[in-house]
Amino acid sequence: MSGAECEEEVDPTEDEEEDEETVIGLGSYKGKVRMVRGDPSDEMMLLWGLQQPTFSKPNAFVAQSSLNLSLDACGRCLSISQSPSSLGVPGVTGSVMWDSGIVLGKFLENAVETGLLVLQGKKVVELGAGCGLVGCIAALLGSELMSLHGEIMLTQHWWNLLPDFVIGSDVIYSEEAVTDLLDTLLELSGTQTTIILAGELRNDAILEYFMEVAMEDFIIGRVDQEGWHPDYRSPRVAMYVMVKKSMP
Ligand SMILES: C[S@@+](CC[C@H](N)C(=O)[O-])C[C@H]1O[C@@H](n2cnc3c(N)ncnc32)[C@H](O)[C@@H]1O
Repeated sequence: MSGAECEEEVDPTEDEEEDEETVIGLGSYKGKVRMVRGDPSDEMMLLWGLQQPTFSKPNAFVAQSSLNLSLDACGRCLSISQSPSSLGVPGVTGSVMWDSGIVLGKFLENAVETGLLVLQGKKVVELGAGCGLVGCIAALLGSELMSLHGEIMLTQHWWNLLPDFVIGSDVIYSEEAVTDLLDTLLELSGTQTTIILAGELRNDAILEYFMEVAMEDFIIGRVDQEGWHPDYRSPRVAMYVMVKKSMP
């Protein structure tokens, strides 16, 4: 076979398309993000087609039947209390840790260590904190943290200022949760607020619904796994950075 025959044909438009979708930095996150635009069903096809979440083990980083979960982060060994028996109570989901929480916590740690994120002195609100591990890591990284779990009426802003960051893991899992989450994100964030969400790829219809509604008010970028902590990557998890659109 000649050299010419071995050469792979390259479509020059392919690279251009990828470059258009990939940007460096969104909001206060300085890493690479792939913009989510257009039809959200394309995003679902990409995630489910490329990552094939159902083929990998769920709860790879957590032990939901244990009373304690330990994780090394920020130079410490964090020990988180869990209540496995409470999972049987209807509507209770935050009594144990979920993979996306570990992924998000370690992502924050890695992004700070690699200079892609600054949390020192920043106002961070964690939504749907559950056992609170992600917030603990954000606080250890120097943030002023407000951690929320359970229903809460935000009648006034905690610091009389909008937060620099809103973070959350596994908070997109039902239509009701999506509606409440988006209302809260709209209320809590300004155009200077960076939202970082990690979600479990369980239900494409719910995530697509979230994307569809969120895209009306927010610019959304996906952080691919290469941007996460190298030891805490999972094809069952997706990570998004979002920034509220400016008013026209
Ligand atoms: C699946 S758990 C995830 C817990 C934790 N973030 C983690 O990753 O391990 C979902 C969390 O979102 C909270 N949540 C869901 N819908 C909510 C709502 N409408 N108002 C307040 N919290 C809500 C639940 O209370 C629960 O703590």
